[in-house]
Amino acid sequence: MPRAGIGDRSFILDGMDLGFHGDLEVGSGLVDLAVNVRRAPMPPWLAEPIAASLADLAAYPDPAPATAAVAARHTRPVDEVLLTAGAAQGFVLLAQALRGVRRPVVVHPQFTEPEAALRHAGHEVTRVLLPEGSGFALDPALVPDDADLVFVGNPTNPTSVLHPVQAVAALARPGRVLVVDEAFADTSGEAESLAGRRDLPGLVVVRSLTKTWGLAGLRIGYLLGPADLLARLAAVQPLWAVSTPALAAAAACASPAAVAAEREIASTLAADRDHLVAALGGLPGVTVQGRPASSFVLVHVPDGGRVRLALRDLGYAVRRGDTFPGLGADWLRIAVRDTAITDGFVSALRKTLEA
Ligand SMILES: Cc1ncc(COP(=O)(O)O)c(C=O)c1O
Repeated sequence: MPRAGIGDRSFILDGMDLGFHGDLEVGSGLVDLAVNVRRAPMPPWLAEPIAASLADLAAYPDPAPATAAVAARHTRPVDEVLLTAGAAQGFVLLAQALRGVRRPVVVHPQFTEPEAALRHAGHEVTRVLLPEGSGFALDPALVPDDADLVFVGNPTNPTSVLHPVQAVAALARPGRVLVVDEAFADTSGEAESLAGRRDLPGLVVVRSLTKTWGLAGLRIGYLLGPADLLARLAAVQPLWAVSTPALAAAAACASPAAVAAEREIASTLAADRDHLVAALGGLPGVTVQGRPASSFVLVHVPDGGRVRLALRDLGYAVRRGDTFPGLGADWLRIAVRDTAITDGFVSALRKTLEA
């Protein structure tokens, strides 16, 4: 099995690094269009409880109040919520707890950590590659019938495709755990979300609070699913995995006011995304993939490897596409930022294309 070196999170498989993420693109004063975390001042209703929690750090964390708040936000019983140190920890818990599965399937292109977590836990992974020709749309018929653990993202990183809820729900069946990574669901205004669905067998929804709320360094997310399944995942979770400040953030982000704020952010984001997509549409050879639905867009650019490096020389970091199964070097993922940043970026991109 491929291994990362000590202190190195790379995970090379067939020449592709599944451990590569956008943060590795950023640095040395580059404008960051590679990481899909929103950059904005923290609202007081979030900053204040996080700051206040620092007074309680001598006590071990108590997840009960935050769990109750998240359960109320999704109208689910508390035992159908498991708070995690970011969505990323959820993938590891699933991979570790479900060692008995025979045929885990990962639907690509998608975030690579589910596959990495499965492989680190010793699973043999079957990949389903959604074809470019279909706009990377989810076709449930492509998933083998005997798959007993399936990972799919919605909306999907890096394609920004939002699959119809019917297509995702069609993957659920008795004898299968269906994991839907909804880390970016709020960026699509919760459209096509399965977070509130309790009728689908084996459904686990993965959520993150690190993106919209700029909490990647705090590590907070959660799983929603059947109580018996979540109990198995909790059993392999490290004790006190979610810190007291992270729990304070989870409770604050579950309030009705926070959910309303998320919707507002999603609508501003949609306008900023339209601006980016329109500007990219005016560039020779650049094709925006489909109708992007999240806080990033995927573009196809001939000679993408050269273009990415030339953009770095001009001060812009974008996310390479060649570490995503099903894509290649001519694909670049670009975070949606405000119109001023977008305009600067698009003129830099134009320069690299004319060079
Ligand atoms: C699709 C997707 N899921 C999950 C994660 C992990 O999120 P978190 O920061 O909550 O661990 C990411 C982070 O980039 C992501 O892109």
